[in-house]
Amino acid sequence: MTDKFRPLKDAFGRFATGIGVAACRNQDGSFSAITINSFTSVSLDPALVLWCIENRASAYPSFMSGDSYSISFLRADQQALSERFARYQPRPLLAEEVEIWTTGAPVLKDRLAAFDCKISARHKAGDHVILVGEVIRFDSAKGAPLIYFASNYHTGAKE
Ligand SMILES: Cc1cc2nc3c(=O)[nH]c(=O)nc-3n(C[C@H](O)[C@H](O)[C@H](O)COP(=O)(O)O)c2cc1C
Repeated sequence: MTDKFRPLKDAFGRFATGIGVAACRNQDGSFSAITINSFTSVSLDPALVLWCIENRASAYPSFMSGDSYSISFLRADQQALSERFARYQPRPLLAEEVEIWTTGAPVLKDRLAAFDCKISARHKAGDHVILVGEVIRFDSAKGAPLIYFASNYHTGAKE
């Protein structure tokens, strides 16, 4: 079957991005996580970021009901994590894979940078919802990023 959105996806995909894992804590204490490349830094003062979640994603209800999320940027050698959280109902994050900072959202222990965010706004936008987050805590490290371009993974240059 042909994908009628293929030409638009091909054009959108010509914008090279890093890759992040967005994660949140559910009411029962479990974690939900999803691979994303829609991250955008928005504002310095206050520190705001955003990313977009598709309204059909299995993790959608989790990110719509909680009040916080984390985003961990992946390193060049973490493609397996990207693939894991781009699957339907992925194997959940385990406590030993994450750190809990301020909001309760899980941050990947191994990462290039991370942001612990309180959700400050949700905006419906077509088949996605834009999740704006106020950055409560963050860090960054040196290293090479995992890059996504034209539906393929690439390795970014090391700093
Ligand atoms: C590199 C990459 C970037 C992605 N970026 C996003 C994104 O920004 N927002 C989103 O909702 N889904 C994004 N996805 C898709 C989700 O990761 C994927 O659809 C979802 O985790 C699969 O679960 P589902 O079958 O329940 O939808 C991306 C996938 C990949 C491989």
